[in-house]
Amino acid sequence: MTLEVKNLTKEYIRGRTAFRAVNNVSFVVRPGDFINIIGRSGSGKSTLVNMIACLLSPTEGSVEIDGLNITSLKDKEASVYRNSKIGYISQGQSTLASLNVLDNVRVPFHLSKRKGTSEEAARSLLEQTGIAHLSEAFPRHLSGGELKRVAIARALINQPDFVIADEPTSDLDVQTTAEIMNLLKNVAETGTAVIMITHDMEALESGSRTFVMEAGILTERASDLSRSGTQPLRCRK
Ligand SMILES: Nc1ncnc2c1ncn2[C@@H]1O[C@H](COP(=O)(O)OP(=O)(O)O)[C@@H](O)[C@H]1O
Ligand SMILES: [Mg+2]
Repeated sequence: MTLEVKNLTKEYIRGRTAFRAVNNVSFVVRPGDFINIIGRSGSGKSTLVNMIACLLSPTEGSVEIDGLNITSLKDKEASVYRNSKIGYISQGQSTLASLNVLDNVRVPFHLSKRKGTSEEAARSLLEQTGIAHLSEAFPRHLSGGELKRVAIARALINQPDFVIADEPTSDLDVQTTAEIMNLLKNVAETGTAVIMITHDMEALESGSRTFVMEAGILTERASDLSRSGTQPLRCRK
């Protein structure tokens, strides 16, 4: 499945003036892509991915999955679509306190009213994310890194074509960051495209494509530079 972001724009009002938090952004995501989006705080990264995840409607432009414009879907259709095609890992804490780890991972499966049980799939994902031993534990007893693993397992339960992760390694130590990055890299290797926001330059190592967001404008870096994590490519005059 191909996801195409076309001329995506989000205008907000600040004071009395409108400004473009996301300004005419276009790019294409293909199966197995690993996309890094970097940029300063406030540059529009979360606004961009929230529009891609159908959590926010654009002022202009569209997001198409295999030619279907998902930003024009009605609320209910949009949530069904998002739930089945897109796994979303939010920046903040997002588990439900009253459910144990296993049941947290199963939530999106049951929201999508699929037939069958999700238990086996959830246990297998907990195995893959390295937290099978925490299946029966409750979120309040988990560390930041363990909670991120729960969020990753949950994002994968409906076998989405795209996973969006908004700063999944913020607040994590170097070792845990590397482990979380590895998990996401493995996800992309199975063919699920990953779109990851990060300000962690370490994380860029595994990125196949890197985009820089600057005041709402998104620019792709040349791939050889993305591996070395150096300055964005600029044309010389
Ligand atoms: N609902 C909103 N109304 C007005 N301005 C907003 C709203 N949400 C975000 N912004 C502004 O849009 C800009 C981009 O925000 P955001 O997408 O969260 O940036 P980032 O994720 O890169 O830190 C910021 O200047 C922020 O203050
Ligand atoms: Mg953000």
